[in-house]
Amino acid sequence: MELVRLGIIGCGAISKKHGEAISRIEDAKLVAAADLVEENVRRFVDNYGGKPYTDYREMLEDPDVDAVIIVTPSGLHANMAQDALDAGKHVLVEKPLAMSADDADSLIKKAQEVKRTLQTVHPNRYYETSEMTHKAIKEGRFGKLSHGVATVRWNRTQEYYDEAPWRKTREMDGGVLLNQAWHALDLLLWFMGPVARAQGMTSKRLHDVETEDIALVTLEFESGALGLVEATTNVYPRNLEQTVSIFGEKGTAVLGGSRIDAIRVWRVKGDKDESEVLGVWSEDTAPKHNPSWAHERVIRYFINHLKSGIIVAPEVHTAAMAIKVIESVVGSSSETSCQ
Ligand SMILES: NC(=O)c1ccc[n+]([C@@H]2O[C@H](COP(=O)([O-])OP(=O)(O)OC[C@H]3O[C@@H](n4cnc5c(N)ncnc54)[C@H](O)[C@@H]3O)[C@@H](O)[C@H]2O)c1
Repeated sequence: MELVRLGIIGCGAISKKHGEAISRIEDAKLVAAADLVEENVRRFVDNYGGKPYTDYREMLEDPDVDAVIIVTPSGLHANMAQDALDAGKHVLVEKPLAMSADDADSLIKKAQEVKRTLQTVHPNRYYETSEMTHKAIKEGRFGKLSHGVATVRWNRTQEYYDEAPWRKTREMDGGVLLNQAWHALDLLLWFMGPVARAQGMTSKRLHDVETEDIALVTLEFESGALGLVEATTNVYPRNLEQTVSIFGEKGTAVLGGSRIDAIRVWRVKGDKDESEVLGVWSEDTAPKHNPSWAHERVIRYFINHLKSGIIVAPEVHTAAMAIKVIESVVGSSSETSCQ
């Protein structure tokens, strides 16, 4: 397959990144787009091309579509991905892959059964800073790992939740871990490896929503290293930080920046001097990629995966693990009374 013909389902806010990214990929072409809201799909095809549909199932019957990208509210991802795989399409699903571990596992099984590529959109993995951190850890340059911390201290106003009502719901949004903390959690799990145990507490403190807006999670990785996740949308009056920190016997790294695309701290034994690393990759010096740069890399990988017959992209397995972690802490905070 020379040219991969793509269809997109969901033409809202984040679809623009996909449209822009696809337009820069030589061996991909956007041939179709679907959205329940006709105005949204019209606007999208006017900008990026493709045949418009208001029923995504009709688009799935279009033989000119090889693969679909699902960019609808989160609670719709799993069913739409199942439908697309059933229709014989390769599937790239925006984050989160699914809302439940059962749904994630079913998608993996279905992709294997129909032999179509399944990938999910984890753009933060594709920044150079994430790749170099992952490589250094996997090559053992951090030595034995002690622990890792994902911190998402963000502000989301009530207006943010009100303007797209799906964001207020358990069924469609899922809460701060499944939505806002997803990328930082993915990096932590990708860097530190499979999780053996998770526990935590969640609460809804400052927003009129169905879900939690603050979550604290502790993890034990299979290696024995520990992990901590602090995720909230309650920080006054604006975003404070999004960081992933890794602590090992021979290395300390802190990744930060608005997209976790920069290095704040890099102290790794025998490695380049920290000042040299920060000279290239600090928040001040790291290249300012355009907003759809990482989505472009994700879609390029997706195209390569489907051309080379890779069925389940590696991030799908991490996504399934992240959902298990979230399921084990949301609504089941284990506690001992201190009163
Ligand atoms: N990877 C990232 O960095 C990133 C960033 C933001 C959002 N997201 C994810 O992208 C997804 C979409 O977010 P958004 O901000 O674009 O939402 P949005 O509300 O702006 O857009 C969603 C679109 O889906 C359409 N839609 C709803 N139900 C549909 C249906 N049954 N059939 C066809 N279209 C339907 C809506 O009409 C709307 O146009 C979410 O899951 C979110 O978590 C990912």
